[in-house]
Amino acid sequence: MSNNSKHEILEKNVGLMALCMVLAVSIGGLVQIVPLFFQKETTQPVEGLKPYTALQLEGRDIYIKEGCVSCHSQMIRPFRAETERYGHYSVAGESVWDHPFLWGSKRTGPDLARVGSRYSDDWHRAHLYNPRNVVPESKMPAYPWLVENQLDGKNTAKKLQAMRTLGVPYSDADIAGASDAVKGKTEMDALVAYLQVLGTSLKNKR
Ligand code: HEC
Repeated sequence: MSNNSKHEILEKNVGLMALCMVLAVSIGGLVQIVPLFFQKETTQPVEGLKPYTALQLEGRDIYIKEGCVSCHSQMIRPFRAETERYGHYSVAGESVWDHPFLWGSKRTGPDLARVGSRYSDDWHRAHLYNPRNVVPESKMPAYPWLVENQLDGKNTAKKLQAMRTLGVPYSDADIAGASDAVKGKTEMDALVAYLQVLGTSLKNKR
């Protein structure tokens, strides 16, 4: 039997073809994905990484709720054009405690992986209230309600607890104090606190 006709068997047998495809893709996947679970680089936090404070964690939830991830990535790729603009490329050890991660893929606006401490808190407040206040040509939507909405802290402790079950090293004291730490704060306070910490654990590598 020539090679050609052997291939014909595969091509004329949909079930066999599908099985072989699944096999090929699975092996490819295993070879690429499995080693990542055992590499320190992808499983260990970078030096100096701190878990989000209760307020920052609430801010992160507002980032998710308001859909910021649909216009902003948090993933600086290791290319010169990216690192010149945004700073050191993103490394896996920076997001080991992010559940779910917010790397995103759509960049209607700039990448935010290292936006922390690039602007003042006041700049962020003015910008989120109405981006046109500080960037006249901006197409970003305004989020004026963030200054009105108060956090009640009802679920904050539970959120930290949930993160702890996923491996984020929160202490009992962190969890016990979580609700008080956010009480009386606005969604704006929380979101700005979150933005200001983004990418700062690797700042010295800029
Ligand atoms: C419809 C797309 C869109 C959405 C949704 C959006 N943004 Fe933006 N964002 C932009 C654009 C475009 C810019 C660039 C112009 C500007 O600075 O306003 C920007 C700029 C920014 C900047 C300044 C970044 C820099 O390096 O100068 C921050 C911070 C920011 N956005 C945060 C947010 C947050 C937080 C949210 C969610 C509450 C959000 N954005 C939602 C489009 C968007």
